[in-house]
Amino acid sequence: MPTEQNLETEKPMADDSEYLSKPDVVKSEKKTVTNYSVKNNELKTVDFIRLFESVGWCPPGEAQVASALKNSLAVFSLYSDTTRIGMGRLLGDHAMSYYIKDFVVVPDFQKHNGGRFLLQAMLDYIAGQLPSDWKVSVELISAPGVEGFYRKFGFEDRPCVNDGAGMCRMLTGRADAANNDKS
Ligand SMILES: CC(C)(COP(=O)(O)OP(=O)(O)OC[C@H]1O[C@@H](n2cnc3c(N)ncnc32)[C@H](O)[C@@H]1OP(=O)(O)O)[C@@H](O)C(=O)NCCC(=O)NCCS
Repeated sequence: MPTEQNLETEKPMADDSEYLSKPDVVKSEKKTVTNYSVKNNELKTVDFIRLFESVGWCPPGEAQVASALKNSLAVFSLYSDTTRIGMGRLLGDHAMSYYIKDFVVVPDFQKHNGGRFLLQAMLDYIAGQLPSDWKVSVELISAPGVEGFYRKFGFEDRPCVNDGAGMCRMLTGRADAANNDKS
């Protein structure tokens, strides 16, 4: 199995152009998964929807997904050799706050350290953009039962000593109604 060291990715480029992380080799009884790499900002709407559905989630419509991808800070694709096997989306302000969304490894490739490789690449990308005297908050909401995966990377459950519970709600758009009122 790979060590922490050989899972490290190359430093991301200063801009948002595509970068490839260092190849890694993971052997298992089931299959040999070779050469993990991460590409940035190449995921198309249809690819996102396919990956989203691969883990049993029901995606929003194409227009909403396309807009989300376009307005993300960065969209990461995880490859095993030439096969795209996962994704993660990063939101944030390049300064104080980052948010990880839509983090997926397709079922056939789970439990072979692909998720570890992808998440580490995303954390390296964030750290690689920031001066060494800046500390930033990286947040996410875990899917049920996946908390243990994120804990391995130092994510803490909420509430904790210093913070209350994370909170969220769904909100329905009303721009259509506002536009209709104007006409
Ligand atoms: C969660 C997910 C991304 C993990 O990816 P993965 O490639 O299977 O994970 P890895 O093989 O890289 O696992 C890395 C480590 O995390 C552990 N881990 C993986 N999934 C875990 C889970 N659900 N609970 C606890 N630990 C987990 C592994 O055992 C491994 O630990 P080790 O290094 O001590 O052996 C993947 O299972 C997935 O896509 N699930 C469905 C979608 C989902 O729930 N995404 C998260 C949304 S918040």
